[in-house]
Amino acid sequence: TCFTVCLLAVVAVVAGQGRPDEITDCDSAKMRACTSNLATFWQYTNEDMNNFWKDRHVFDDLVTKKYGKNAEDYTYVCNGISLFYHCIGPSNIQYCMGVSGLTNNQMSAFDAYQMDGMLNRIRFECGDAFFPTVTTPDVVNCIQRTKTNYVQNFGSITDSYENQIQHDTYANVCSNAQGFMSNITDVYRRGPCSEVPNDAVLSMAQWYGCNGARQHVLAQYRHCESSLQCGNL
Ligand SMILES: *[C@@H]1O[C@H](CO)[C@@H](O)[C@H](O)[C@H]1NC(C)=O
Repeated sequence: TCFTVCLLAVVAVVAGQGRPDEITDCDSAKMRACTSNLATFWQYTNEDMNNFWKDRHVFDDLVTKKYGKNAEDYTYVCNGISLFYHCIGPSNIQYCMGVSGLTNNQMSAFDAYQMDGMLNRIRFECGDAFFPTVTTPDVVNCIQRTKTNYVQNFGSITDSYENQIQHDTYANVCSNAQGFMSNITDVYRRGPCSEVPNDAVLSMAQWYGCNGARQHVLAQYRHCESSLQCGNL
């Protein structure tokens, strides 16, 4: 059902079983066309979107600028992402997106892992977290203000995490991932949701921030799943 907000289903990103007759390359013409459709939907120019899939800071910046204050604004962001996924389709999701697709599209492998993590987070925010968020006006409002006001902080927390996992030993990845989750959660804890005089709003915002960050890190480190928890915020 579809009342004040209408969410398009985010397609499941499942890697298809590779058969010899299947496409195994990114259809870059389609990727360009779908990126152009997304630009139109979000009222950006194609030029604005030039580095959208090449630079995760540009991606984050352009996505974040589309948040506003209510459920409709939040849905607008999610629907843009959904339309894009529907447009490129499952095999291109695998070959144009994902770490190898993004790397072929001029992104460094380290950045591609973080970009993949950000897309994982957005799937959570527009999937499991969608209804709990948009049905509470105070929550959806302060979450969007957190994203907008703290886009730089989220970027630098991600930069610092990316740097840490490159230089630290592999044995520490799960604890670094936990550090990333707790730094992201802190932004939600201290940001605009803390000004709402309702503890439930703040705890919802922390749930949202922590679980989004958890999905981000799990894109790369699935084996950390059992140790990464958002229970003890
Ligand atoms: C989290 O923040 C702390 C304090 O600013 C910092 O020392 C730490 O490196 C950060 N962790 C990650 C994974 O970025």
